[in-house]
Amino acid sequence: MIRLLVVCLGNICRSPMAEGALRSRIEAAGLAEMIDVDSCGTGDWHAGDAPDPRAIRCAAGHGVDIAALRARTLEAADYRAFDVLLCADASTLRIVQSRRPADASAQAALLLDWAEQGGGDVPDPYTGDAAGFETVWPLVDQAADAIVERHRRLAPGARGSRIIRS
Ligand code: 4NP
Repeated sequence: MIRLLVVCLGNICRSPMAEGALRSRIEAAGLAEMIDVDSCGTGDWHAGDAPDPRAIRCAAGHGVDIAALRARTLEAADYRAFDVLLCADASTLRIVQSRRPADASAQAALLLDWAEQGGGDVPDPYTGDAAGFETVWPLVDQAADAIVERHRRLAPGARGSRIIRS
């Protein structure tokens, strides 16, 4: 079991979209026993809130329901409870590193780096329009796909894990 925590600033746009994409692909691959996923924000302004309505609409347009997710703030305990803190952008990664408690066991990385999607930031769509969310979706969904594929290859019992040679 690998435990992944996606982290952004507010936990109402990028990280719930990434969590939704991951949950959807994990479920489709039959890997729910193998990959655990959650999300949070470094800021607490939106704690307890549902994702931004634009994020909910965008994800729904791609067949993923994130309406029931609720924002929460990154806690010291997350550094032990999760294996990898997957940060949406470099500024989030810096904040996550700066709050690292002495007993932390989790590694912290950029989401797009860890997913081998070329690294870089998932751009913050919060202050923009709906188009910004449509820019975010393929980034987080391709990252989710890459992460799930990597684990599918390691999981003998997962759907689609057999190697079929033609
Ligand atoms: P997120 O977007 O980090 O992708 O959830 C933001 C949401 C809220 C704020 C900033 C970014 N805010 O300043 O309230």
